Amino acid sequence: MKYKLPRQITSPEIDKVLRKEVRKQNIEVLRLTRKNLKEIAELSEVIQKFGLPEYLVCKKLPYDLGYGVFLHPGARPMPKDQVIGPYAGDTSIIAEKIRPEGSYAFTPIENIHLNKKEQQFFDKKNKFHPKRSYTFQIDAWKHGNFTRFINHSEKPNVVAHLFYAPSNACGLAKSVIEVIYFAKKTIRPGEQLLVSYEDEEDSYWGAVKIKPFPMTPKTFQLDASLRIVERSS
Ligand SMILES: C[S@@+](CC[C@H](N)C(=O)[O-])C[C@H]1O[C@@H](n2cnc3c(N)ncnc32)[C@H](O)[C@@H]1O
Repeated sequence: MKYKLPRQITSPEIDKVLRKEVRKQNIEVLRLTRKNLKEIAELSEVIQKFGLPEYLVCKKLPYDLGYGVFLHPGARPMPKDQVIGPYAGDTSIIAEKIRPEGSYAFTPIENIHLNKKEQQFFDKKNKFHPKRSYTFQIDAWKHGNFTRFINHSEKPNVVAHLFYAPSNACGLAKSVIEVIYFAKKTIRPGEQLLVSYEDEEDSYWGAVKIKPFPMTPKTFQLDASLRIVERSS
């Protein structure tokens, strides 16, 4: 696995804007518990070394779906609320939401308004405009980890939550806001990990102009030989 970025990295300038926006937009960002921080610290080491925890398998799917992530058929069931991993990627504050085809971008904060100094810093190409709105983007296209291979479903077994990491003794850098994937329910060995890309205000599929393939965690499963078996629902 060539994607070995354990967590997103943000600059102090980005953090300052994020802190202000979280307060201004009243965004609910939960504090990572000590247990979660420990899980993420352990996962980070594994991601940096191997890319993928040994209980997960990344496999190519049929029908041009690209790769997907599965719970290893020999693994224990993954309990609800277990941390799957932080969604990592290159972070930026961009002038408009760009959602190219095959997008790996997460936009946890939109409708950001920057002052003149901030616009000059983040948006060197445009002249200052007080009404222009910006987006905080985490893009896993070039850098990221295995979470970038988790596909979409309307019946997901994975959920994304917004969290912040406080100062901690686990060796993890503090964060203002980050996207963490959790098990939404028990995930059985062999099942595919799937998350919903859509939220209330945002249509991922409308923007990339693809009709999503309707799959559930059981549509494609791994057998004991790590072959993909398709089940009709
Ligand atoms: C974050 S990536 C997921 C990993 C991707 N399969 C890969 O191999 O890189 C998102 C892209 O995967 C594909 N994808 C994910 N879920 C899909 C679904 N339910 N139906 C069709 N394509 C899907 C689309 O091309 C989408 O833009």
